[in-house]
Amino acid sequence: MNIDTLVEAASQARERAHAPFSKFKVGAAVADQNGRIFTGCNIENASYGLTMCAERVAVFKAVSEGAAKLTHVAVVADTDKLTPPCGACRQILWEFCGDAELVLGNLAGQRITLSLSDIFPKPFDASFL
Ligand code: THU
Repeated sequence: MNIDTLVEAASQARERAHAPFSKFKVGAAVADQNGRIFTGCNIENASYGLTMCAERVAVFKAVSEGAAKLTHVAVVADTDKLTPPCGACRQILWEFCGDAELVLGNLAGQRITLSLSDIFPKPFDASFL
């Protein structure tokens, strides 16, 4: 997977964020093991609790469109401190990506590459059921 392409896809998706309440726009892109890319942006609602994060939009699009196992994730926001996925998104990412490569980026071109397990070290998953 070309990481530049994935980060650029997340950056473009961010521009489509519906974030009139927080003004905090986030873009995400996930890639599957066949190299298919699926993107998402955060989508807020006047009933605030119905807001959906960019990462989950991207994952749910991927799953609903028949993606193979997800292997790479990129998240882009306009923050100096690179924005990580929230707790709920970490759980959802783990379900479909496992210990994927996670790239966090901002509009200034800064980036860090992590593994999902770096920020989600003791996941609950199907192995417990
Ligand atoms: N948000 C995301 O889309 N992803 C994250 O990783 C963090 C938070 C969104 C949710 C809400 O629309 C806005 O950012 C502020 O929390």
